[in-house]
Amino acid sequence: MKHLIEPTDLTKEETEEIIDLALDIIANREKYSEACKGKKLATLFYEPSTRTRLSFTSAMMELGGNVLGFSDAQNTSVSKGETCADTTKVINCFADIIAMRHFEEGAALVSALNSRIPVINAGDGSHAHPTQTLTDLLTIRREIGRFDDLTIGFCGDLKFGRTVHSLIKALSRYKGINVVLIAPEQLRLPGYMKKEVLDVNGLPYKEVSTLEEVMPELDVLYMTRVQKERFFDEDEYDRVKDCFVLDAKKLAAAKPEMRVLHPLPRVNEIAVDVDSDPRAAYFRQVENGKFVRMALILSLLKWAGREDKKNVLVPENAVRNRFTCRNPRCISNMEVNVDTLFRPAADKEGEWRCVYCESKPK
Ligand code: CP
Repeated sequence: MKHLIEPTDLTKEETEEIIDLALDIIANREKYSEACKGKKLATLFYEPSTRTRLSFTSAMMELGGNVLGFSDAQNTSVSKGETCADTTKVINCFADIIAMRHFEEGAALVSALNSRIPVINAGDGSHAHPTQTLTDLLTIRREIGRFDDLTIGFCGDLKFGRTVHSLIKALSRYKGINVVLIAPEQLRLPGYMKKEVLDVNGLPYKEVSTLEEVMPELDVLYMTRVQKERFFDEDEYDRVKDCFVLDAKKLAAAKPEMRVLHPLPRVNEIAVDVDSDPRAAYFRQVENGKFVRMALILSLLKWAGREDKKNVLVPENAVRNRFTCRNPRCISNMEVNVDTLFRPAADKEGEWRCVYCESKPK
């Protein structure tokens, strides 16, 4: 079974096939209006969402399929203690494909390990958000026209920002990518992302402390919200929440063809005076999310059961129940009957990374 848990679960070729299919859907909407007739998508959302859940719903409706699910797990048997694994087994009896958002890191992987139908990770804690990455890639393709030779600035919360981690992983497979990291000290990109993704793939990167100093060199500026819900300490959030604000004055220094992306929602990191600038692509990006999710649903249903389209969900060299994860938000620390799984780190011999959330052992 092919699931989408991490952006790299899709090869570069599969990713581009989905982007091409999304472009065909945009050009020929009617052709796809019954493509999922008789199929059901289950949207299992344990964490709030506007864009992702409703774009999945809208995508399946435009494909002629049906949608069931929940947007508040507390109204389900989760409130009685049902695990993610058991909920997945139950939903397998009712649906053909699952889209899951969860605040526990690794939840979508646990779901996939217990599923006979494709599971799509619609965001797991601060770990990964691969369908946002497909949305971002389709937006870059439509707005800029290429994935190679891009200087892309990531600004805001690069520590907890799952959309940032996932997009960097996807872009690391292209040539000529220069990464500029713009974040306060407390919200810098995690060390594993620098070592295992940027360094291992030979992507040049620099860390800077102001938007102004890099604005003229960027092809894409990827803004992010400082995510209050990921902080354990509210004072810490208050110290960093207004660190970087993009406004029309700062944007004036950017290239005319530069594009501003944001996964949204925004709080105040992009002033509304930017919205009317043609370089502001973030509301067009939202609509791309629906088209690319249509293409993803179609592709995963087409690939279901194909031997050549299986994922390796757990690497062969992973060890089971030898270590404990140090991340309190990892599903292996939050739910019962979840084996701990660690794989060797790609950047350093003798180090291990949690298969669910990429943290180190305790
Ligand atoms: N971009 C995104 O994931 O938005 P939602 O949280 O509204 O789904």
